[in-house]
Amino acid sequence: MTPISHPIEDILELARWAPSGDNTQPWRFEVLDERHLIVHAFDTRDHCVYDLDGHPSQIGLGALLETLTIAASAHGMRAECTRDLESPEANPQYMVELIPDGQLLPDSLRTHVKGRSVQRRPMRTKPLTQPQKEALQSAVGDVYHVRWFDGRMQRYQFAKLMFDNGKLRLTLPEAYPVHRSIIEWKSRFSEDRVPDQALGLDAMTLQLMRWVMANWQRVNFFNTYLAGHLVPRVEMDLLPGLFCAAHFAILAPKPPETIDDYVAAGRAVQRFWLTATGLGLQLQPEMTPLIFSRYVREGRVFSRLPSAVESATALGARLSRLMKGLPVEQAVFLGRIGNGTTATSRSLRLPIDRLMSER
Ligand SMILES: Cc1cc2nc3c(=O)[nH]c(=O)nc-3n(C[C@H](O)[C@H](O)[C@H](O)COP(=O)(O)O)c2cc1C
Repeated sequence: MTPISHPIEDILELARWAPSGDNTQPWRFEVLDERHLIVHAFDTRDHCVYDLDGHPSQIGLGALLETLTIAASAHGMRAECTRDLESPEANPQYMVELIPDGQLLPDSLRTHVKGRSVQRRPMRTKPLTQPQKEALQSAVGDVYHVRWFDGRMQRYQFAKLMFDNGKLRLTLPEAYPVHRSIIEWKSRFSEDRVPDQALGLDAMTLQLMRWVMANWQRVNFFNTYLAGHLVPRVEMDLLPGLFCAAHFAILAPKPPETIDDYVAAGRAVQRFWLTATGLGLQLQPEMTPLIFSRYVREGRVFSRLPSAVESATALGARLSRLMKGLPVEQAVFLGRIGNGTTATSRSLRLPIDRLMSER
């Protein structure tokens, strides 16, 4: 006999497809009964230089809660998610109650949850249409504002910014262990990391990078004497930055400060990304310039290399100029978007039983 599947199982099955930085999936589920569960979240700030104050993880958590809410709507239920204020910020817990609601219509974004994925390769430069831009703006609601950086010159400026930002990332000693641990080599799909084939590199560069990244001495030698970061940056930053319809920033009404601000932003980001998928558009987040510029703004040292801090300072100033006076500190998400084919290599997710909390 086939076991009866309860809505809560279906809901979690779909919710787990939410995106998270480096596919860390920083959440575990504890099902209490058919209507209640606890999301045990965590962040990676203690070992990941990009997870500044856990904010990127919190954006991912927002995406998870939004996806869960979307998934619940397909079963005629509202999902009420409440943060346990006693839980530590680095390990927040959310009580989720599923409430049947006869008035609720299934959210149309649910059909795009599994198809949404990062595209790190070049896209088409065909501009977004006005209706597409309007649909994406309305996806994030009235509270957030989407700003577009399109046209040849702005795409070039952002591509160049990403290219220079790429040098900082690839030469940063503190980022090396992160890159090493999140790439699954020789893979097209990965359940708990990013498969190397999804990085946007050609096969030969990938092979060389795999060899070089085996230890920091090799990375440092290649970077210092052979400009080893050059080809990867052309393929991962410059070309994708040029070949897209637009770069974009999602701005909050005020600089986000609390975990609740970041979780709320993550919800909006997921609605934006799912709407883009529904419109047949591809997307790639470009979050690291925002993260480095925050380190600099707050005077926080993220590297033992003084030159890295100097580069981040210069990049932060350039990002501000490119954003034409818009407040960078209000930007919760930066990315590029465009028409193109769906990625043929992508991150998958941990199976649901591995996402179940043992608590
Ligand atoms: C908060 C956040 C930040 C991210 N930052 C980047 C980024 O800077 N560059 C990038 O290529 N992908 C970035 N990603 C995409 C994740 O790596 C991706 O969502 C994850 O590996 C799962 O893959 P999928 O979205 O294809 O399912 C980010 C995702 C989130 C949620």
